[in-house]
Amino acid sequence: MRTNVSSALRGVSRRAWLRAAGILGMSGWTGPSGRGLAAGVRTIDDLDTPSMIIDLDLLEKNLREMQEVCRKEGIPLQVHTKTHKIPEFAHMQLRQGAVGICCQKLGEAEAMAAGGIRANILVPYNIVGEQKLVRLARLAKRVPMTVAVDSETTAAGISEQLQKDGGRVRVLVELDTGGKRTGVQSPKDALELARKVSKMPHLELRGVMTYPSRLEAKPFLEETADLFRKSGLPLDEISGGGTGAEAVSKQIGCNVTRSGSYAYEGLKRINTTTNPPNPVTCATRMIVTVVSTPTADRIIIDGGQKTFERNPPNPYGYIVDYPEAKIYGMSVEHGHVDVSACSHKFRVGERLAVVPQHQGVTTNNHDEVYAVRKGLIEAVLPVAGRGKVR
Ligand SMILES: Cc1ncc(COP(=O)(O)O)c(C=O)c1O
Repeated sequence: MRTNVSSALRGVSRRAWLRAAGILGMSGWTGPSGRGLAAGVRTIDDLDTPSMIIDLDLLEKNLREMQEVCRKEGIPLQVHTKTHKIPEFAHMQLRQGAVGICCQKLGEAEAMAAGGIRANILVPYNIVGEQKLVRLARLAKRVPMTVAVDSETTAAGISEQLQKDGGRVRVLVELDTGGKRTGVQSPKDALELARKVSKMPHLELRGVMTYPSRLEAKPFLEETADLFRKSGLPLDEISGGGTGAEAVSKQIGCNVTRSGSYAYEGLKRINTTTNPPNPVTCATRMIVTVVSTPTADRIIIDGGQKTFERNPPNPYGYIVDYPEAKIYGMSVEHGHVDVSACSHKFRVGERLAVVPQHQGVTTNNHDEVYAVRKGLIEAVLPVAGRGKVR
């Protein structure tokens, strides 16, 4: 992304930019962080590096397009906020028509509630341990909370805490339909657990969830639904998920789908081979500086594992203006770039825009992101859910 500041916009006030971005005036928006923008910082060229920026035009396009996909498929969208971890963006998604949000960890849900989210929050995670149970009970008094469980122990822990603290929590029984992560292993197990949950005080059984939505899950879901109905158990919600799997969710019988990565990555989840990072669909950019040009075929940028991510997906990202340059390695604070295929001669001090490979993990490394439109910074947004792994 090259800076392209329209001179006509130079005189526009910060409030006007925020309003134009749809950020100011949204429920929960409390203005730029106390940190704010340093004096004289107006465009991406003024930012110190590395800095993570979000292209608002692309973000808004991704949000609009996903909402439209779900509308056409006839399946409600419950947005997963793990990708951006920013309440202001969750508000934008809800305003687009999302029916609720989903947070992988309780801490992220607390950050969203603190950012003004009052829509239904699903935590599709087994919440275990007294400290978390106390927090869940507290949160459930402020926001309608749903959690997923795959064991009687987890469900009973929540129920017992709520018997002490009061309040209600909605529950989905998680099914392992092939993802081989958490979830009960058969429709019969789902039925057995659901029966127990339905009798536990302060819990409201809502239905079932699975991840990811895959066609192979259909028989498991159908059999489970059949057993629930024959037993008279509630099945208001059959929740599937995964960016790019919205139509599959519908096909396998879900009545809500959870997608998250699309906000930054686009309608199809990015990966290293079939759909690598792409500046046309991906809304994030890391602005980095070339800090060393030690050899003709290698340059070093000022972002390493602590700026991008720790796993080695090679290449680590896409250098927007020089796609032939490949980030092939990461030290903790250095990015190693092979420039042997580039005719361009890189120089120390040059700035590059990189689309990170795993945008959600990368976000979790940053205190704030810069919301940008056509090179102009419209807002500094704290990544409120950053590091909220408990
Ligand atoms: C339980 C659950 N639901 C939904 C999602 C959203 O998937 P995606 O990031 O592909 O949109 C995830 C992603 O990790 C998940 O773990």
